Amino acid sequence: MAEILVCDDETNLRELLCLALEGHGHRTLAAANGAEALRLLEQSAWELLITDLRLPDMSGLDLLRRAKELAPDRPALLMTAFASAATAVTAMKEGAFDYLEKPFVMEELHLAVARALEQGALQRENIRLRQAVGERVSAEEIIGISVAMRRVLELARRAARTDASVLITGESGTGKELVARFIHNCSVRVKGPFVAVNCAAVPEGLIESELFGHARGAFTGAVANRPGLFVEAEHGTLFLDEIGETPMPVQAKLLRAVQERLVRPVGGVGERAVDVRLLAATNRDLREETASGRFREDLLYRINVVHLHLPPLRERREDIPLLAARFVECHARKYGLGIHGIAPEVMDCLLRYHFPGNVRELSNVVEGAVALTVEGRVEMEALPEAVRCGQSAGTPVVAGEFRLPEGGLDLEAHLAALEASAMDQALEACQGSKTRAAELLGMSFRTFRYRMGKLVGR
Ligand SMILES: Nc1ncnc2c1ncn2[C@@H]1O[C@H](COP(=O)(O)OP(=O)(O)OP(=O)(O)O)[C@@H](O)[C@H]1O
Ligand SMILES: [Mg+2]
Repeated sequence: MAEILVCDDETNLRELLCLALEGHGHRTLAAANGAEALRLLEQSAWELLITDLRLPDMSGLDLLRRAKELAPDRPALLMTAFASAATAVTAMKEGAFDYLEKPFVMEELHLAVARALEQGALQRENIRLRQAVGERVSAEEIIGISVAMRRVLELARRAARTDASVLITGESGTGKELVARFIHNCSVRVKGPFVAVNCAAVPEGLIESELFGHARGAFTGAVANRPGLFVEAEHGTLFLDEIGETPMPVQAKLLRAVQERLVRPVGGVGERAVDVRLLAATNRDLREETASGRFREDLLYRINVVHLHLPPLRERREDIPLLAARFVECHARKYGLGIHGIAPEVMDCLLRYHFPGNVRELSNVVEGAVALTVEGRVEMEALPEAVRCGQSAGTPVVAGEFRLPEGGLDLEAHLAALEASAMDQALEACQGSKTRAAELLGMSFRTFRYRMGKLVGR
């Protein structure tokens, strides 16, 4: 049962309507003119507006507009003695749910009221569900109070309403994948799959079949038909992570798939149409990559319809306290430890630290600290040395500290030595894990391997 606002200047009709509606268990509010109705619209908890089209002081359409501004999800019915197709269309356009032609029988009124209320309830439910989905991801997973992060999330929300391809850039560990999932979850494709592929992790020779599928017998090892990730992501979102690592020949095929939304399996005959929304991420500067011929410019334009850039954590330090607190909570829960909070001096260290590995590194540092804490809150002794001393493996050499020797120097050799030393130290710090060493140096695994090869080959 609902609270219904009835607006009509004919006293008899108004009272009759109110009685009829109350007879059906509704509560009513009555207004004899537009001004009274406006006051009630603003001050009461009405759920449905029923108004005459002709009011003594304003048009019923104006009242309708105001009602829609105040509460777009609450329905309205218009009554008119001079029904014409034109007024009906205008009324519907302005958001009236239905209109009643005077004189009408009460049965018609009750039917229209029931339908309008049902529609209003559905609409509110939809809005609630959509917000719940969006909020679930943003509130529980993406933390960001800095202006920069709020802006990124707002743009992501806007882009999510469309099917536009989005390129998400940012250093390693800044949350690119998280934002990609957020976009998918806020979009109408949320009911479809979210398929992520890390283009750097798939061996070069297999990327094509991974993306587009293959026919049985297409190559050694292809023992069965495989649909490929484009097909798996049908009606959903395909997230091409580290797209900058895709080899040139695959980029050409990718371009075609992105452009035409058609995929051809390796060794298969014929093409297949796919309905997929594309998101891509990279920690490389793709403009630079196109300039040096390592990335196709036409592909860049296709995937970069909307560009979202995630700033490094050191440029949005205001996010550190909230993130750190959330990570303490998560890791403590994961290990079943009763640890709560962080000592203020620990937070000071975190706020000063450079975080070359960004949010992922913050999470790892906190996880380690939680693991070393016996009870209570995280104290200084649980922090790794590098964070405690405010240094970082990735702190860049301050250019001002460098002194060019009088006799000059071989810059290439000097930089190569610096690079070799950084890579050695990173490998040592990561117990020989190249993947983690690459992360520590803010580069992809593939770049790391390539540079190692170059240094070794010197
Ligand atoms: N704003 C954030 N709020 C909460 N957690 C975050 C946030 N940003 C990143 N994280 C967490 O940090 C980790 C790294 O995030 P993610 O994998 O999305 O980064 P990425 O930019 O894709 O990194 P890479 O370039 O290395 O793939 C994840 O565990 C993620 O949940
Ligand atoms: Mg990632």
